[in-house]
This record gives sequence, structure tokens and C-alpha cells, in this order.
Amino acid sequence: MADILNLIRNRKSLRVPFDPDRPVAREDLLKILEAARWSPTAHNMQNFEIIVVDDPEILQAIGNIKRPISETFIRENYPHLSFSEEELSKKKTGLLATMFPPSWRNPDFRLTQTDEKETASLQRPMPESPALLVVVYDPGKRAPASEGDFLGIISLGCALENMWLMAESLGIGLHIVSSLGSAPEVKTILRIPHDLIIAFSCRFGYPVSRPAKHLQVRRDVKDFAHHNRFGAREKGFA
Ligand SMILES: Cc1cc2nc3c(=O)[nH]c(=O)nc-3n(C[C@H](O)[C@H](O)[C@H](O)COP(=O)(O)O)c2cc1C
Repeated sequence: MADILNLIRNRKSLRVPFDPDRPVAREDLLKILEAARWSPTAHNMQNFEIIVVDDPEILQAIGNIKRPISETFIRENYPHLSFSEEELSKKKTGLLATMFPPSWRNPDFRLTQTDEKETASLQRPMPESPALLVVVYDPGKRAPASEGDFLGIISLGCALENMWLMAESLGIGLHIVSSLGSAPEVKTILRIPHDLIIAFSCRFGYPVSRPAKHLQVRRDVKDFAHHNRFGAREKGFA
């Protein structure tokens, strides 16, 4: 197994089709679930339920859902966009604008101004995959004294990262599809009790073709690490 820092560095979002005819081996799937099992959670609440979806009919039904377009998402997405690799390399945070449909790259985007045909093309179908993980939690069971269940939600992130790193170590690609969480049809299709919330969903599998190389950026450690006092930069962290 690759050493942990290499594994962390190599993990990436694979927004490409995964081979629908190449299922993830059961033992590998169990390892991904085992990784979630041992994730740290606030108060050891283990506040997640994970639905593994690999029934082709259910996958198709979910794949066919027109995922809602959120004007808020598009508006708040805009400041995170860079319009060239050079700009992204300089900013070190955010995403390339070309990842999104052209009309989303407009700060004045208004859903009301888009015609039906355009809206349909914006609701791009989810790329294919042999399986999906849907992680749900019960917002009624928050970590003690954790306003907005902040700690519980961090815990779900720990489960996500554990699973993602496990998948990476097994050569399995993974892609989070947040928009499934706001599509009510998913809860109906998967018979998720109404009081549970979808935290996140991930497609996973083996890429059909080699994913195109894309620029990945991160801030340098010195950009976010402070020494003893906020704002105090340490040359040793450079
Ligand atoms: C909580 C969370 C939600 C995310 N939602 C999406 C999503 O809906 N669609 C998507 O393509 N990527 C999603 N991502 C992936 C991030 O965009 C990605 O991790 C980030 O751009 C860094 O790229 P990398 O994963 O390739 O290193 C999400 C990541 C996290 C942690």
C-alpha cells in the first residue's frame, strides 16, 4: 500500500464515466465500508448509515433524475471560479470555470431567464457508474451541545475521507455528487426514512478511459499555518 501522504496526494475527484460493466469486487467494497466503520466521529456517535446501490435499475432511475439547478449555487459558485489555468495557479483555491456550463460562468445568472431547453441541458446527466454510495444521517441525533450539529457533520466528513482514501488505495475512482442530496426523488427511490438527511452521495468504480490530466491546486502550508498566534507565520512551515 502506498504511504499515507502519497495516498492523500494522489486522491482526486474523478468526474468521468466509470465502467458500468465492471463492478467493484465485494471484498474491496467491504474494505471501503470497513474504512467508514473506523472513522472518528464526535462522541463516537457513528452517525451515518450507508446505502450501497449497485442494482442497475435503481442506478438508472437515480441517473435519470433531473437534478435541481440552484440559483444560489450558481451565484455562490462564481467567486470560486478561475478563467484560466494561470489564474487558478495564482489563486491556489477554487475551480476552473470550464468545469461548468457556459451560462453558469456568468455572475448575473438568473434561472428565470433560461429557457426550458437550456435548463434541460444544464441538468446534465450523471456520468455512468456501476455503484453509488449514499450516506445519510439523522439530524435529530446531534453531538452534545453542538450547535447545528457542527461536530456531527465534521464526523460525516471523516467517514467520507476514510472511504475515499481506501478507494484510492484500491485503484477505485470516486466522485461526490452533492446535487443528489437535494433531489427528493432519491429518498423515495431508496426508501430513506423522511427524518433522515442525505449527507452526500458518491459514484465509484473504474474509469472507462484515462481521465484527462487537469490542474490541481492547493495553498502552500505557509498560507494557512500559523505559529502560536494567529497571523504569525513560521519560515519553517514554508
Ligand atoms: C463535501 C464535498 C462536496 C463535494 N461536492 C462535489 C460535487 O457535487 N460535485 C463534484 O464534482 N465535486 C464535488 N466535490 C469535490 C471537490 O470539488 C474536490 O474535492 C476539490 O475540487 C478538490 O479536487 P480533488 O478532489 O480532485 O482533489 C466535493 C467535495 C467535498 C469534500
